Amino acid sequence: MTCGAPCDDTPCSGIRLPDRLFVLGIGFFSLCFLMTSLGGQLSARRPGDSPFTIRTEDEDSGGSEESHDVLPGHRPSQQPGFRPSLRGVSCWNFQQRPAVVTLQLCPGPGRRPPGAGSCHRCASPGGQIPREEPRFPPGAGLMERIQAIAQNVSDIAVKVDQILRHSLILHSKVSEGRRDQCEAPSDPKFPDCSGKVEWMRARWTSDPCYAFFGVDGTECSFLIYLSEVEWFCPPLPWRNQTATQMAPKSLPKVQAVFRSNLSHLLELMGSGKESLIFMKKRTKRLTAQWALAAQRLAQKLGSVWRDQKQILVHIGFLTEESGDVFSPRVLKGGPLGEMVQWADILATLYVLGHGLRITVSLKELQSNLGVPPGRGNCPLTMPLPFDLIYTDYHGLQQMKQHMGLSFKKYRCRIRVIDTFGTEPAYNHEEYATLHGYRTNWGYWNLNPKQFMTMFPHTPDNSFMGFVSEELNETEKQLIRGGKASNMAVVYGKEASIWKLQGKDKFLGVLNKYMEIHGTVYYESQRPPEVPAFVKNHGLLPQPEFQQLLRKAKLFIGFGFPYEGPAPLEAIANGCVFLQARFSPPHSSLNHEFFRGKPTSRELFSQHPYAENFIGKPHVWTVDYNNSEEFEAAIKAIMRTQPSGLGGKVQTEATRYRSEKFRCPAGP
Ligand SMILES: *[C@@H]1O[C@H](CO)[C@@H](O)[C@H](O)[C@H]1NC(C)=O
Ligand SMILES: *[C@@H]1O[C@H](CO)[C@@H](O)[C@H](O)[C@H]1NC(C)=O
Ligand SMILES: *[C@@H]1O[C@H](CO)[C@@H](O)[C@H](O)[C@H]1NC(C)=O
Ligand SMILES: *[C@@H]1O[C@H](CO)[C@@H](O)[C@H](O)[C@H]1NC(C)=O
Ligand SMILES: *[C@@H]1O[C@H](CO)[C@@H](O)[C@H](O)[C@H]1NC(C)=O
Repeated sequence: MTCGAPCDDTPCSGIRLPDRLFVLGIGFFSLCFLMTSLGGQLSARRPGDSPFTIRTEDEDSGGSEESHDVLPGHRPSQQPGFRPSLRGVSCWNFQQRPAVVTLQLCPGPGRRPPGAGSCHRCASPGGQIPREEPRFPPGAGLMERIQAIAQNVSDIAVKVDQILRHSLILHSKVSEGRRDQCEAPSDPKFPDCSGKVEWMRARWTSDPCYAFFGVDGTECSFLIYLSEVEWFCPPLPWRNQTATQMAPKSLPKVQAVFRSNLSHLLELMGSGKESLIFMKKRTKRLTAQWALAAQRLAQKLGSVWRDQKQILVHIGFLTEESGDVFSPRVLKGGPLGEMVQWADILATLYVLGHGLRITVSLKELQSNLGVPPGRGNCPLTMPLPFDLIYTDYHGLQQMKQHMGLSFKKYRCRIRVIDTFGTEPAYNHEEYATLHGYRTNWGYWNLNPKQFMTMFPHTPDNSFMGFVSEELNETEKQLIRGGKASNMAVVYGKEASIWKLQGKDKFLGVLNKYMEIHGTVYYESQRPPEVPAFVKNHGLLPQPEFQQLLRKAKLFIGFGFPYEGPAPLEAIANGCVFLQARFSPPHSSLNHEFFRGKPTSRELFSQHPYAENFIGKPHVWTVDYNNSEEFEAAIKAIMRTQPSGLGGKVQTEATRYRSEKFRCPAGP
């Protein structure tokens, strides 16, 4: 117990001792009483529950000083050094009056010793027996003796009380200064301090992380936590400031050196998920290209000093905690655009010579960040060891849930890979709330430039991009020679895209002119959505898919998926990309796919970047419902010569983008 707890709401006037003391004998009783005075085994139940009732009475109103600086709810036991030896005393302090303890002994019902006289006054609550008065007529026998012993015990109690009060006064002199400093200070620079202390008082047990940081329910521990772990309260002057002010040793700056051997990166990426295996395959396949890019950059920037940064890459959508719906679909035609981009981001950062940590689970994230044990409401246990964190919306959510205040402190270091972008109206919490732009993904109040899109479709966000392959002249020559002018490959690996309404019409037209190839995933039999005249290869490994593209003349999109990397890849391999114009345009207001995404950008075609930045002769955007327009486009495409193969390595551009941006506002 701990007198303390009941003391918070009930006065300690009736101090009850357990019945068994009577049975065990007087010596033990007095011993126990001393113990309870000193050790705090008192409980504050109603008097009269027990045959033994210790009551306190006012002795004088001269009051000791310490009784005044202990406010209700502030237990002296919470002062450093007070606990636990004076816990019992705290009850008396709480009453704010010095107390003399008198003891009434009265056998409880059923325990009345034989021959004992009546004990009416004991039975009536509040009936006090003055000490000086002889309580029983002579010859009362056992009861009288007990009474006498009780008197002795009572005298001892008085003495003990005096000793305790004396020591309290001494103690309070020693720690008076400190005790004052464990009250929430009213410093205008810390307006939230007292409110936070109040919150801690009520809720510090709601997350074990507070106890991890030393919070134990005492006022001092609240203030120490709120001033040293969080920063709502001013630092306590009597605390050892050197320990708290030990600034994170900023490591000596190291120059980043371009790396051209990616084998260590492949190790860092780990395995165990189809998605990681896919990403590694891509990186491996592009190894030579990365090495070349590293050499070129080294030549170009050789002498420029670049700091090596410590970078955490947390791929949130691949964590089990976010459901990881992607990994199981890698081999079933699921979307790979994000993985392509992540693989390239990792390779870019690695080639640039930065220190990399890669996490694809919440556990790894927590240990890399230094999340204290508990539910994630506390700040990190150490200064963030990363200059930058690349993550996605899932990862952002996980960080917010596990970093406490540190999330706000370090949010400037976060970069969010966000394919479709986040518009400022959805990002700004207050604006979003007032104007109905709150979404499941939005209102993070980041700098909009911290969101990095897959294509450069908005000046509000940054553009991260990805890498498209580069062909050398020999390869280009080879491709030009090997093109079949009447071969079309359909964009999309999932059967669902073939359900498009009105597809029969334009597919019929296309089939008149070209041989149509599909790469639709299927398990055992041909997917029924794919018409019989389409040559379906099933899901192809990347190199084989690339061979198909190198032979094909046309890469045709059915309207989904939106804005992926595949059309650029097709164009790089000498295909013409034909896509549908959207009228009305698709957006979060009218299309399920975009619903809830923090943007209302309208897409006027499946791949606006291809339409607006590449265009003819590589990209044709037509109304698929207009048979004449569609047919004319097919004919024109068949006539075009595979001229300059489009697509360009973006490695260098990506490099600049990933390093250039600096968040202007500090935390
Ligand atoms: C009470 O205390 C006095 C002296 O302190 C002692 O002489 C006496 O025997 C005690 N009485 C009992 C019943 O213990
Ligand atoms: C304060 O803490 C530092 C580092 O923990 C320690 O070296 C120093 O001796 C401490 N000073 C005092 C006065 O306790
Ligand atoms: C890359 O490094 C690994 C070991 O770190 C080594 O085994 C391999 O031969 C290197 N590759 C090249 C191309 O230098
Ligand atoms: C072009 O690339 C191919 C395959 O990557 C390679 O075998 C060939 O040597 C390269 N040619 C030139 C001229 O670099
Ligand atoms: C073509 O028309 C159908 C039916 O009117 C419509 O559902 C579909 O969205 C249109 N397709 C395109 C690409 O505009």
